[in-house]
Amino acid sequence: MSPRDNILPHAALVPRHVAVVMDGNGRWARQRFMPRFFGHKAGVDALVRAVNAFADRGVQVLSVFAFSSENWKRPDEEVSGLMSLVLVAVSKYLTKLARDGVRIRIVGDRSAVSDKLRQAWEQAEAMTANNTRITLAVAFNYGGRWDVVQAARRCVADGLEPERIDERALSERMALAFAPDPDLFIRTGGEMRISNFLLWQSAYAEFVFTDCLWPDFGEREIDAALAAFAQRDRRFGAIRPPEVAMAGSA
Ligand code: IPE
Ligand code: IPE
Ligand code: MG
Repeated sequence: MSPRDNILPHAALVPRHVAVVMDGNGRWARQRFMPRFFGHKAGVDALVRAVNAFADRGVQVLSVFAFSSENWKRPDEEVSGLMSLVLVAVSKYLTKLARDGVRIRIVGDRSAVSDKLRQAWEQAEAMTANNTRITLAVAFNYGGRWDVVQAARRCVADGLEPERIDERALSERMALAFAPDPDLFIRTGGEMRISNFLLWQSAYAEFVFTDCLWPDFGEREIDAALAAFAQRDRRFGAIRPPEVAMAGSA
């Protein structure tokens, strides 16, 4: 029996794909009278713990917002700190994540990042390509609007006639085409907004917002978010079938 046999209440109640806006690193550091970078570093540690905890609970894909298209607006020092943190994180954690059965995928516009960073991403993807326990999709230099635009451009580049450009054609060309749409969308840090994360893919995601700052987001918060998800009544625009409604009220 694997550890998750104890935890899974009912497979259908567990989201297949969880998307997370990992927000609040800067405030976490400020509470400790430390520079923002200290919070980002703690954020990486929290991510490595979270991916294992989600995997133990049966989640198949965890996508995390690590750097948004808009985060370039931050001071140069913070931007370059975040870039170098990726290199540090890869050298510190790649072997562990590979051993833990995590498949790493990077989503976002790679054209704007340094060669060194691109190589680190390629190494992380190549080293974990055969892993199947959980997929960790790291959104870096990613924006939901960028994703829609790049998918539309690819439709044109592929020579699709206008009438063949439909939801499926776009979905197949979105950055997360390899994953099902997120079932559960979590944002830490207290803000209640999407901030241009998975706009297209989150059409029917269930949202959980928590005040917990990302570096503090641990198993307790993960269980609370998954419990909230299990309580939701997902209808996808339909009405509940009567037998389900009856069973629910019994
Ligand atoms: C989220 O934490 C991480 C990134 C955007 C890279 P923030 O840096 O936004 O932390 P707060 O929101 O200022 O606390
Ligand atoms: C969203 O957080 C981006 C990431 C977590 C990478 P922000 O802190 O950048 O979002 P806003 O500016 O509060 O909307
Ligand atoms: Mg923030």
